[in-house]
Amino acid sequence: MYAFVSSLGLMGIEPYVIRVEVDSRKGLPGFDIVGLPDASVKESRDRVKSAIQNLGYPFPNAKIVANLAPADTRKIGSVYDLPILLALIHASGYENLDFDGTAVIGEIGLSGELRAVQGVLAMVLDARRMGFKRVVVPQGNAAEAAVAEGVDIIAAAHAAQIVSYLKGAESIQPVKAQALAPVIEETWPDLSDVKGQFEARRAMEISAAGGHNLLLIGPPGTGKSMLAKRLPSILPEMTDTEAIETTKIYSVAGLLESGQALLRRRPFRAPHHTVSAAALTGGGPNPKPGDLSLAHNCVLFLDELPEFNKMALEVLRQPLEDGAVNISRVRQRITYPADVMLVAAMNPCPCGFYGHPDKKCTCSPAAIQKYLGRVSGPMLDRIDIHIEVPPVNYEQMSSREKAPASRAARERVSAARAVQHARFAGTAVTCNAGIPPAMLGAVCRMDTGAKALLKASFSALSLSARAYDRILKVARTIADLEGADYIGSAHISEAIQYRSLDRKYWAG
Ligand SMILES: Nc1ncnc2c1ncn2[C@@H]1O[C@H](COP(=O)(O)OP(=O)(O)OP(=O)(O)O)[C@@H](O)[C@H]1O
Ligand SMILES: [Mg+2]
Repeated sequence: MYAFVSSLGLMGIEPYVIRVEVDSRKGLPGFDIVGLPDASVKESRDRVKSAIQNLGYPFPNAKIVANLAPADTRKIGSVYDLPILLALIHASGYENLDFDGTAVIGEIGLSGELRAVQGVLAMVLDARRMGFKRVVVPQGNAAEAAVAEGVDIIAAAHAAQIVSYLKGAESIQPVKAQALAPVIEETWPDLSDVKGQFEARRAMEISAAGGHNLLLIGPPGTGKSMLAKRLPSILPEMTDTEAIETTKIYSVAGLLESGQALLRRRPFRAPHHTVSAAALTGGGPNPKPGDLSLAHNCVLFLDELPEFNKMALEVLRQPLEDGAVNISRVRQRITYPADVMLVAAMNPCPCGFYGHPDKKCTCSPAAIQKYLGRVSGPMLDRIDIHIEVPPVNYEQMSSREKAPASRAARERVSAARAVQHARFAGTAVTCNAGIPPAMLGAVCRMDTGAKALLKASFSALSLSARAYDRILKVARTIADLEGADYIGSAHISEAIQYRSLDRKYWAG
């Protein structure tokens, strides 16, 4: 006899329908799984064999073939255990199960208990559009799956419950979505811990307001790492759309805890400088999202930038421009979103004191050049805002006065983001850093003073075309923070100032 059950697969974070067919007929007894399964899918066989017997059915003494269609995409993981088990029970004539309008996903244990699988949110979000009325999932994925609208999520802890549900003997209430409502108060370290550094704070605020990449440069122990770690504390809460996008990626990466619904806290990823290019952008034989995608909609922090592997920095270039990572494999091409704010911190030389007001730098000019040279021109060009973080003086350090907290900065950032939301409504652009060249002229209108200043600086500082665009975008954000419609000369001059460090350190 023959039976089929629909299931869901993922290409990156894009779902597609998988048809799980089981044929059981007289012949040499055996159990094969075909349809480009990888080793992890092949192990389903043993789990299904034990589970079916522990559910009280004899393992059929027949020639059994399970086929996962379409046959040209690689099937990974234990997601298909439950659909194979159910199709086998039906095909063996043990029970008459109704699979109409139903998609089934889930791993089973040897006794038939259901275990959570990865990527469920991304699989079920489009289930209704794909024609399903309900999706059967393990209990551990229930909260995450319930975010999907328009389909009933049927969750259970044991395969036996699903069997009685599908044969009509037991009813299971669909899981209620409670996920979208609660926005938890985010708990990040606060800017009030950082003394002084008012220029760096201002630069951080602009960077957060417009989504601009940021480079902090200065001697050791001045608060660069401290500041960067506090950047999420001044970013507005994730919107529902952002939360869903980010949660999908965490779910696919297997980083969502069992029972967790939507991620509400913005991800802050700070990979160590020994990270490999593949771990940064995503990869491996079954490509998983890398740090870059795990920081989607928030901050990727690269501390000690020149210490990173040169390869790893180079592979960042394209995704930083596109907001997405493309991974090609023989049978698949996967895209993971990666719209991040890059924040990098570094010392200006190996000893750290080059350019320090009082301490002497002990590095040779060649060593300094070599150190700075590890950060390539094109990489530097992708960072809109460069800011120096100088040593804090004794008065500031010993001052009892409380430094400004994150809250006020976050309110200013949120106001500037609201202006941008209105400006970019109906387009794919989310903030000023992402203004496409075609939109630049219309969006970044300057008054006459600003035009004259930018023109004069363009030749005086021999700016590149890319630098010109980026200065305009940063100036737009500065004007938005002020609530100004037109970009004025003060905005332009502040924006230019954030592009002057590369001349100080990298020009020589
Ligand atoms: N501006 C500051 N206000 C308060 N504490 C500070 C400040 N700067 C540094 N500190 C203290 O010094 C420690 C080190 O700061 P942090 O790690 O941010 O320095 P850094 O600039 O990243 O140095 P490095 O270049 O060595 O990485 C902090 O944990 C904090 O105790
Ligand atoms: Mg540091």
